[in-house]
Amino acid sequence: MSKAGALDLASGLGGKIAKDDVLSAVDKYEKYHVCYGGEEEERKANYTDMVNKYYDLVTSFYEYGWGESFHFAPRWKGESLRESIKRHEHFLALQLGLRPGHKVLDVGCGIGGPLREIAQFSFTSVTGLNNNEYQIARGKALNRVAGVDRTCDFVKADFMNMPFPENHFDAVYAIEATCHAPDAVGCYKEIFRVLKPGQCFAAYEWCMTESYDPSNAEHQKIKSDIEIGNGLPDVRVTTQCLDALKKAGFEVLFEKDLAVDSPVPWYLPLDKSHFSLSSFRLTAVGRMITKNMVKALEYVGLAPQGSQRVQAFLEKAAEGLVDGGKKDIFTPMYFFVGRKPLSSSQ
Ligand SMILES: C[S@@+](CC[C@H](N)C(=O)[O-])C[C@H]1O[C@@H](n2cnc3c(N)ncnc32)[C@H](O)[C@@H]1O
Repeated sequence: MSKAGALDLASGLGGKIAKDDVLSAVDKYEKYHVCYGGEEEERKANYTDMVNKYYDLVTSFYEYGWGESFHFAPRWKGESLRESIKRHEHFLALQLGLRPGHKVLDVGCGIGGPLREIAQFSFTSVTGLNNNEYQIARGKALNRVAGVDRTCDFVKADFMNMPFPENHFDAVYAIEATCHAPDAVGCYKEIFRVLKPGQCFAAYEWCMTESYDPSNAEHQKIKSDIEIGNGLPDVRVTTQCLDALKKAGFEVLFEKDLAVDSPVPWYLPLDKSHFSLSSFRLTAVGRMITKNMVKALEYVGLAPQGSQRVQAFLEKAAEGLVDGGKKDIFTPMYFFVGRKPLSSSQ
């Protein structure tokens, strides 16, 4: 079962970082970012340290507020957030044409929420690739509870350099994860290498849309809030991801920003003007309660020093995401399916 209580939130805070070192890790993490004088090149050069610090610091908050799947979803009217998240995972499995027995790779798998859902939905064996040790430990425990620990596993490695032979997987997917790559072409080339010829890679990418104006100060601030709040070196524009996919060798079968046709905006759960009992912890009231609870837990020593600062940059993330969504300059669901040709001449 996913960690749900306040004490679980406090005990997991900091992930693999020693509790006494959480505050200095927060300091170091913040300094990578623009509002603290950090630069894109430094974030890219140190992406492993930056991204791992980020996920050690936030995983417990994510699990507390969001559940086991750490991603957004397009949503129909009358559908709950949880239902929309599962449907988004099923859609991916269908687009990839997953069949029982397929060997599938989940790139940047978090604690494995999508991996378990997709494995159970499609009777496939899914390997979760992740560079964060704490998340893998959580994922393994949750796989045992879900009964998929014999068919699904985790590998700790960097998706820029994967420890798999070439032509190994029947399908590869990435859900809101490859946005952490310092270089999209390098990352997609690794995916291309490990995928069998004729098979597909599908992803939901975090992107700035074509409405993003890099010379607009308000747009720049939204982009930088999204970066600091989400452990990102640089949010790419949709066209950069599409170009990268082609440069890596893929034939593009489908590409679309799924946010455009979503009847309920993907950012609604984080919008302060919205209230929902089923995703109460994400609402303005729920977040205020979490903020005060973390303050109290930090004060009495149950949560490490620095926990409130983590909550504060996650709040910045939420604001950046909602503003980016409302202005149509950002999407967390630029979707594409790319096929590895049967031969290099195809
Ligand atoms: C927003 S989370 C999404 C997790 C998961 N796909 C989900 O939807 O629940 C991004 C994930 O990418 C992983 N990640 C980031 N950079 C990585 C890298 N260089 N190599 C492997 N995994 C990475 C993070 O550790 C995290 O698990």
